[in-house]
Amino acid sequence: MTVAMRQQARWDLMERTDVCYVGVALMVLGTVLVAGSFLRLGFTGTFLGDYFGILMEEKVTCFPFNVSENPMYWGSTANYLGLALIGASPVGLILTAIVAVVYKVAIRIEGPFTEQIYLERSQRRKLQ
Ligand SMILES: *[C@@H]1O[C@H](CO)[C@@H](O)[C@H](O)[C@H]1NC(C)=O
Repeated sequence: MTVAMRQQARWDLMERTDVCYVGVALMVLGTVLVAGSFLRLGFTGTFLGDYFGILMEEKVTCFPFNVSENPMYWGSTANYLGLALIGASPVGLILTAIVAVVYKVAIRIEGPFTEQIYLERSQRRKLQ
């Protein structure tokens, strides 16, 4: 994204101090959400867990999962949007929109999958 932004034109309309401040605020928010999620889930829970059947003991519901169901995806989107605003970059905005759509699709697939594997585990536990 930074490579694309550097190579494309900046947008005069976005070259404003307040737009830049909003971008910085979004990046702070996004970093808090992403780093907070990572601290709660750990490396395994973040990148591998569900797909390899390594489940958490229980669903994590404390911060940042109490402010968003998918804090890592939306935090990451906030980071991209912040970067685009700070860079006054129209191509940054377009790439952010693409990222958001891809995350939205991922959430739609991943959400039910995660529910399902935790449901299956709780059913297995009841049988034991
Ligand atoms: C989420 O949890 C944090 C502390 O873990 C708390 O300060 C915050 O108010 C909570 N937010 C919501 C929306 O419940």
